[in-house]
Amino acid sequence: MKKRYNVAIIGCGGMGEAHIQENYYKENIRFTYACDCDLERAVMFQRKYGVDYITSDYKECISDDKVDIVIIATRPKSHLDILRVCIQYHKHVLCEKPICDTLEAGSTFLRLVKEHPEIKVLVGHILRHNKTYQRAAEMIQAGAIGKPVIFRMVQNHHTMNWERYLSMLREVSPLLDCGVHYADIIQWFTGAKVIDIQATGVRSEKDVPVGNYNYGLVTMRMSDGSVGYYEAGYSNTLSAQNVKEFAGPKGRIRIIFAKDRQEHQEEGDLIEFYRYPEKEYEMINIRCSRKPTGEQFEYLLQMIENNLPPVPSMEEVKEAFDIMIQADTMIKHNL
Ligand SMILES: NC(=O)c1ccc[n+]([C@@H]2O[C@H](COP(=O)([O-])OP(=O)(O)OC[C@H]3O[C@@H](n4cnc5c(N)ncnc54)[C@H](O)[C@@H]3O)[C@@H](O)[C@H]2O)c1
Repeated sequence: MKKRYNVAIIGCGGMGEAHIQENYYKENIRFTYACDCDLERAVMFQRKYGVDYITSDYKECISDDKVDIVIIATRPKSHLDILRVCIQYHKHVLCEKPICDTLEAGSTFLRLVKEHPEIKVLVGHILRHNKTYQRAAEMIQAGAIGKPVIFRMVQNHHTMNWERYLSMLREVSPLLDCGVHYADIIQWFTGAKVIDIQATGVRSEKDVPVGNYNYGLVTMRMSDGSVGYYEAGYSNTLSAQNVKEFAGPKGRIRIIFAKDRQEHQEEGDLIEFYRYPEKEYEMINIRCSRKPTGEQFEYLLQMIENNLPPVPSMEEVKEAFDIMIQADTMIKHNL
């Protein structure tokens, strides 16, 4: 019989909901607690997903003997403090990326996880569990487009809810918030290391907190000669854009996300594969969900039950984090 796990979710915002809605109905998972410092949000989770208890104090749910696993879905500033309590009470953890918001806190996070191998910690680099990205990685690693690879990665948000983005910008920059995914991807897809970083950014709207920026661009040069850039903007004026294109001497792979398809959106993402010199196109349909929090959580259970290593490894998580902290520091220095 499958073991049943009691789970506490801390942070009942956007990502907290992405976690609970893909997992709450599974027979081996019970959401025992929903925790949010804004208790009303936890109340909503209880109403929607039938959570047993709610609290505004994360220590209360982590210290409860009934809880086996904690999902940390708060903003990065609080991740390290919550992780410490999880370790104190021997709770396995799924922690959202980025692991925290400073270089020093990131090193402490890594050290604590390494010191406690009995506690399984998976950081939410969800693209590692996304079938579209997994397929693109396999193709590039198998030489489908040759080397060196050019990575074009853009994630611009034209926001209809500026206050939500501003509240994010009060705590974290666009590059650190999301860029860790793409610093990880460029190393994952090539198997090479980032050896040079350049970055620039701007505070283009006056209500963005002083000292932060709302548009950032980082370029990365790899040890195998590949290069790439990641561009992230939260703004009232940029157009929303999600570009993920990988090109090499033998061709190009471009991801067309389900929501950007003209038709058959329900079929999932498309990988457009252009072969050169044949000049042939192949469209590969990938059935997948955009945020596979269900598959990611299943992987944490496998780590617990079968002692599997985290994906990505903690070292890979930390490398991606360090790259974006470096880019962030460069930009903030020149603001
Ligand atoms: N992997 C992805 O695709 C993805 C997408 C979006 C966000 N994220 C990550 O998820 C995390 C959360 O982002 P979000 O967009 O859901 O933020 P959010 O603001 O929507 O939700 C965070 C929630 O945590 C609560 N909270 C904050 N501090 C708390 C504390 N100390 N105790 C209890 N509750 C607390 C807030 O009240 C809020 O409800 C961030 O680290 C973000 O980078 C990941």
